[in-house]
Amino acid sequence: MNIVHISAECFPIAKVGGLADVVGALPKYQKELGVESSVIMPFYNNKFTNSNSFDIIYENSIALGHSYHNFKILKLKDSLIGFDLFCVDIADLIYKDYVYSYNDTERFLAFQIAALDWIMTFEYKPNIIHVHDHHTGLIPFMTKECYQYTKLKDIPTVLTIHNAQYQGWFSHDNMHLIPPFDFSKVGLLDWSGEINPLAAAIKCAWRVTTVSPSYMEELKQKANGLESLLSNESEKCVGILNGIDWNVWNPETDKTLVKNFNSDNVISGKKGNKKYLCEKFNLDISKPLFAFIGRLVGEKGADLFPEIFEKALEENEISILLLGSGHKETEERLSKINNKNYNSFIGYDESLAHKIYAGTDFLLMPSRVEPCGLNQMYSLRYGTIPVVNSIGGLKDTIIDIDNEGFGICHEGVTVTQVTEAISRAVVYYKNKKVFKKNVKEVMKINYSWGNSAKVYVDLYQSISKKKK
Ligand code: GLC
Repeated sequence: MNIVHISAECFPIAKVGGLADVVGALPKYQKELGVESSVIMPFYNNKFTNSNSFDIIYENSIALGHSYHNFKILKLKDSLIGFDLFCVDIADLIYKDYVYSYNDTERFLAFQIAALDWIMTFEYKPNIIHVHDHHTGLIPFMTKECYQYTKLKDIPTVLTIHNAQYQGWFSHDNMHLIPPFDFSKVGLLDWSGEINPLAAAIKCAWRVTTVSPSYMEELKQKANGLESLLSNESEKCVGILNGIDWNVWNPETDKTLVKNFNSDNVISGKKGNKKYLCEKFNLDISKPLFAFIGRLVGEKGADLFPEIFEKALEENEISILLLGSGHKETEERLSKINNKNYNSFIGYDESLAHKIYAGTDFLLMPSRVEPCGLNQMYSLRYGTIPVVNSIGGLKDTIIDIDNEGFGICHEGVTVTQVTEAISRAVVYYKNKKVFKKNVKEVMKINYSWGNSAKVYVDLYQSISKKKK
């Protein structure tokens, strides 16, 4: 079996969020199961693409509405990443020093068209085309309905929804950018009067997956306007929990850490990394350390961080460290927190993120929406206790200490709910014997891709045999 993943992000080539981690790991695990798996993504102008070599393997031009754009397919040389990776290079549209901007309609449409034009030339077509989020959401429609892709129409398509908040909406005025199709099918593209790539993918893909079972259920109640569509299509929808790359995220071999460790020496190992963090960020090592890593957006509860942090620091003897960037106003408000037990790094730094997972005692995830969440899994792997709002993937992965579990869960995201959870965590931390035992135990919880990659393969097999 031969699977092609098409995605806007893939770690380590370009990462904005968890989408990159999933697309950068899942193909490796699928290959271990004997399934050929590769990735097609856009070619951006960034550190990775500038410092790695690519071969040009195909060149042509696409029609995008009334204009033509040259494109190249670049293949990453001597793939160190464990699978074949191809980039669509469209110099005048895609090659920017960012992944997303405010209006990406043309960029991602051009990317999807070029990817399909190239797949059309394959002597052996893929068995499955697996697309991720709205950026690649028009592909299931195009293979099904666009005249120029008739040869691809029997290839089953799978959509994975990593985040249903963003849907890639654009106006019907831009319809001419989509390659010609039978106009009686225009309803497949539309949702509430706009062209909605995510909705189109939910309608046209052979199967729809979300990145955790609970998120699948939640979407039927709350999906930024797509609730009824997801309920109607529920027969072809399934929630499959993401995994993490067990080798990239391994505290025993992780080169970015100050001190490597495993579950036998986790207590001293974490102490060494905490010492580094506390010295670097001027924090008191004797206090329990709480960290946040991620995007500073409403979905993650970030607008409440300034109040949460101030209240939590006032009520408890703790330190807080934040790594992230996002909403400018939140960044500014966070930079005004004047407390010797708080520090932050505004920006993104993958190596610092690893050090924080290794050195912090607790990881805060007061997300309002969390389709899966990978950070709680990284933190467990590094012996760090997650403090989470029980929704989506967080609900599926973290069990509260009061329910014979190991983490701290709260139900809802208000300043009071989160600060109460932090206070419970402090009590937990002071109960040294139980806390240390659990720190060791959580490292053994296996959220590797091993299991979930197999579930995807079963899903591919179930659709590759039969016609839609
Ligand atoms: C998105 C979601 C996150 C999920 C990730 C990977 O970033 O917000 O919850 O873990 O995608 O699927």
